[in-house]
Amino acid sequence: MLKAIGSKADLLVDREGKGYYYMVSDLLENELVLKMKEYIHHGDTTCFQHCLNVSYYNYRICRFFSLNARAAARAGLLHDLFLYDWHTHKPEKGERLHGFTHAETALKNAKENFYISELEGDIIEKHMFPLNITAVPRYRETVVIVLVDKYCGLLETVIPRMKRIVTVFHRGESKKRSA
Ligand SMILES: [Fe+2]
Ligand SMILES: [Fe+2]
Repeated sequence: MLKAIGSKADLLVDREGKGYYYMVSDLLENELVLKMKEYIHHGDTTCFQHCLNVSYYNYRICRFFSLNARAAARAGLLHDLFLYDWHTHKPEKGERLHGFTHAETALKNAKENFYISELEGDIIEKHMFPLNITAVPRYRETVVIVLVDKYCGLLETVIPRMKRIVTVFHRGESKKRSA
């Protein structure tokens, strides 16, 4: 089963999901993209799952507004293709922090391994706006990822915490009942 956080659609089975899947299936089967499963991004979410989440919501929103949903989906899947654990990553001497550099690293990796259109390049390179204040979005699809990336980051950190709180609460309740 392949799912985006907060969505019920199975991307391999459901009609809506399949439409998305066909646009990115080559990327989803690529070794380098799958390597992102090795790195945790937010909370318990891997970098791969985060990119899938962003890619799927990018696709849905861009399709709704008749924007380039294919570019949004593909660039979404590659937008954090920096391929290291940012929690333990130490910047080289003179290098800026991960938040400021990883979009450029992801774009470099993406360009070295896939055909990246100008629009897709803009989406990947500028997804960290406004943290990267000079990387101003040029396209509406880039504005979409700026918002979707933050929304997914929030879901990925908040939902697992909420689930943990609910589990602890239920455990407490059942202990009370059996006492
Ligand atoms: Fe990012
Ligand atoms: Fe991201």
